[in-house]
Amino acid sequence: MRAGSLPPKRHIQFRRPDGGLYAEELLSTQGFESVYSLLYHLHPPTATLDVRSWDRPRPRLQPNEPLRNRHFRTARIATSGDAVSARVPVLGNADVTIAVAEFSDPMPYFYRNVRGDELLFVHRGSGHLETPLGRLDYRPHDYLVIPVGTTYRVHPSETTRMLVHETSGPVRVPRKYRNECGQLAEHAPYYERDFRGPILGEPNSEDGAFEIRVAGKERNAIYTVAHHPCDVVGWDGYCYPYAFNLDEFAPITGKLHQPPPAHATFEAPAAAFCAFVPRLFDYHPLAIPVPYNHSSVDCDEVLYYVSGNFMSRRGVEEGSITLHTAGAPHGPQPGTVEQSIGKKSTDEIAVMIDTFAPLHIAAAASDAEDEGYYRSWLEAPAAT
Ligand SMILES: [Fe+2]
Repeated sequence: MRAGSLPPKRHIQFRRPDGGLYAEELLSTQGFESVYSLLYHLHPPTATLDVRSWDRPRPRLQPNEPLRNRHFRTARIATSGDAVSARVPVLGNADVTIAVAEFSDPMPYFYRNVRGDELLFVHRGSGHLETPLGRLDYRPHDYLVIPVGTTYRVHPSETTRMLVHETSGPVRVPRKYRNECGQLAEHAPYYERDFRGPILGEPNSEDGAFEIRVAGKERNAIYTVAHHPCDVVGWDGYCYPYAFNLDEFAPITGKLHQPPPAHATFEAPAAAFCAFVPRLFDYHPLAIPVPYNHSSVDCDEVLYYVSGNFMSRRGVEEGSITLHTAGAPHGPQPGTVEQSIGKKSTDEIAVMIDTFAPLHIAAAASDAEDEGYYRSWLEAPAAT
């Protein structure tokens, strides 16, 4: 992408109308080795007035012990504040923290995660992200990919509910969807045209004192800088926040049941993301639309239920999270296999994250746990 005014070459003089130099900034990832963008600010982004501690609450995580499948009704977890302060972690490990956040307040400060990319899934609500690279509008069912180091704040235009993933590295389109030049392949379930980048407006030339909360997992800080972070007149490159709406996802369906990797959306270190969206079911005359029992013994499988009729699950509701853990088989609940036969399509939406290291459980999730979930595969007692 490129936007706004740029000099003809990188790293050369680029002057403002008043004769001063614009301040070039390289926003790079993985040192200087991976994707990057070059930004041109009215003023250096380095002008720092103050740095102080940010005592960001850390999730209190407990092991999934005894090891079992679990169900958390996260819609019942109270959250409030803005898009960052409202985050309530529910599950996490060294690779990813999964949080829910429901908020209606705008952020008076900026926020920057310097540990890894963030992946925000918009369950409900709309608004926009304000970033130095431009404005990114969001709406229900958007995935927002925010590269590490991106300064941003969220302005909800209505109450917004998000599922938040703070990862430990890059969030990327799976390699299998790309050709050798990086272009999305013909067999991918989405296309470049489906992805929305930020729209750059006029630079904000305000001077004063602007707060940026910097999150680095164990190393947090609150910076006060002298110039508005969104004073960019132009930028180009491959590193920028973007949105992808699940309604644009073209699910891959088949003659027989397609496993989750057929529904992959993104991947991150030690984590894989999938989406289950409205789609036609399998067309073999004897097909069973619901999944078979399975044990993914080397990963933990998390499903977040967005909307629709969750045919293979008993007792879940919108906002439910199920954790199907390594070592415990799971599958359709009693009766749901027969019920599914002959069904032609589904209207359910759910998003999934598989983690390759064990997930731990946060206190807020334990408080919202459906304790008997692991027994939900037993046959229902006969009606009397
Ligand atoms: Fe599963």
